[in-house]
Amino acid sequence: MKITTFLFIVLATIFYYSCNKDAKTELLDSKLEDLVKSRSKSGTLGYYAMPSSNNYSALPNQDPKNPVTQEKVELGKMLFFETGIGMSPKKSESQATYSCGSCHIPEIGFTAGRFQGIADGGIGFGSHGEARTINPSYDVTEVDAQGARPLPVINLAYVRNPLWNGAFGSYGMNEGTESVWGIGDSLTLINKEKREGLEAAITRALIVHRQVVDKHLMDKLGYTKLFDEAFPDVDPSERYTLQIASHAIASYFRTILTNEAPFQDWIKGDRNAMSDVQKRGAILFFDKAGCINCHNSPSFNNQRFSAVGVKDLDQNGYLVYKTNDGRNKGRAGFTLKDEDLYKFKVPELYNLKHAGFYFHGASKKSLRDVVQYFNEAVPENPNVKSERLDPQFRPLNLTETEINELTEFLENGLYDPNLIRYKPTKILSGNCFPNNDKKSKSEMGCN
Ligand code: HEC
Ligand code: HEC
Repeated sequence: MKITTFLFIVLATIFYYSCNKDAKTELLDSKLEDLVKSRSKSGTLGYYAMPSSNNYSALPNQDPKNPVTQEKVELGKMLFFETGIGMSPKKSESQATYSCGSCHIPEIGFTAGRFQGIADGGIGFGSHGEARTINPSYDVTEVDAQGARPLPVINLAYVRNPLWNGAFGSYGMNEGTESVWGIGDSLTLINKEKREGLEAAITRALIVHRQVVDKHLMDKLGYTKLFDEAFPDVDPSERYTLQIASHAIASYFRTILTNEAPFQDWIKGDRNAMSDVQKRGAILFFDKAGCINCHNSPSFNNQRFSAVGVKDLDQNGYLVYKTNDGRNKGRAGFTLKDEDLYKFKVPELYNLKHAGFYFHGASKKSLRDVVQYFNEAVPENPNVKSERLDPQFRPLNLTETEINELTEFLENGLYDPNLIRYKPTKILSGNCFPNNDKKSKSEMGCN
């Protein structure tokens, strides 16, 4: 064979395979586009696109009484991590040692690194929260740890009724539930203030997690000026309060969006942002695996509650000081309705790769295990009888390859690699954050 003929054959072969690969990728793209559009609530890809975090007017579900501003975001960003406001612990030795960020750590998708987060009554941090343990001088009943796995505080602009049971906020899914406000859970009395869910839930969180905000402390830590700049219209007698602090933190939360994840870039037109495996996983998500039937919004959460039969924290043998925590009832713990028993909020799905624990009772330890669970659709919680299960919870018959593809889409297609852009570079007290106890400080390399 002549060398020119040989070269021609080699080049033609390379050309054939590379085109074929491109053609295959293009086919995946157009198939995914069609599917996404068909499930989109506006019929367009754009429905799933998150706005830029500094495009404040585009951030959804703002409270008209608390529009997002730069000044509020900057203040909320520091208060959320400010260990200096952890001033109401059960034992005075723990003053100024914990913050909201103790259970919502930015490096791991604003989750806790544990099945249960611990703030007051905990010591240590490890590399990202996993080594936090109970302070031996505390009795277990005194520790601030809740009866469900902490939800990540990301993409909250799409959450109108926070918590696994959606108990907070006067609007959204809580319209029509007025008669139970303050009844099942006395803290939901706050809904009578007619605010959006984030504002209400954060005020409650500041109290539950033993924080203090008042004029004296804000003067001491150096925040007074920031409150004045962010809330000039609020009467000074009401300005340095937990309520107003919650307005700043809610503004900050609405900007924490995973808008740099590969799927976001793909939606916005960069067809190279996802690998072919991720695209095949996305196709399964929107089609055969039926995930989109429940997880349908820009963050893949949903304003809907549904029973998928997973175990509670206490059933998993995790430390909770009381069994049968009211949270185990799901939405019914708030509405007191039998039909809401064991129904939990459909949560968002971005940046879960490093969470380490999944579902409200932390019963799964990897995203692949979660996919496997939905694939088999066998409830693991004996309290949840089959008639209570969501009809969309049904066996999917995915192959091993399909399970891997779907897992890859969740792990990396929905992963924004740069969430630490939302972490402050400092807090005004100058303390360490998110934790400030001696053990954490040494583990965090902070002095
Ligand atoms: C001790 C650990 C811990 C601390 C500290 C903590 N959280 Fe949480 N957070 C949780 C848990 C657990 C949940 C889920 C609880 C539930 O749904 O019943 C949660 C849920 C939330 C949610 C709801 C998210 C959603 O998608 O519905 C918001 C908002 C929130 N926390 C804000 C805060 C703020 C603000 C602070 C500080 C004032 C804070 N958290 C401190 C453990 C903690
Ligand atoms: C019937 C509605 C429904 C369907 C279908 C569904 N989910 Fe969910 N999903 C939920 C609910 C509700 C939860 C929270 C359950 C709980 O913790 O009690 C959840 C939780 C999750 C979680 C854990 C999130 C966290 O923070 O712990 C992941 C991951 C997830 N779903 C992925 C998927 C995938 C992938 C599919 C498709 C194979 C899927 N879901 C199908 C309703 C659904």
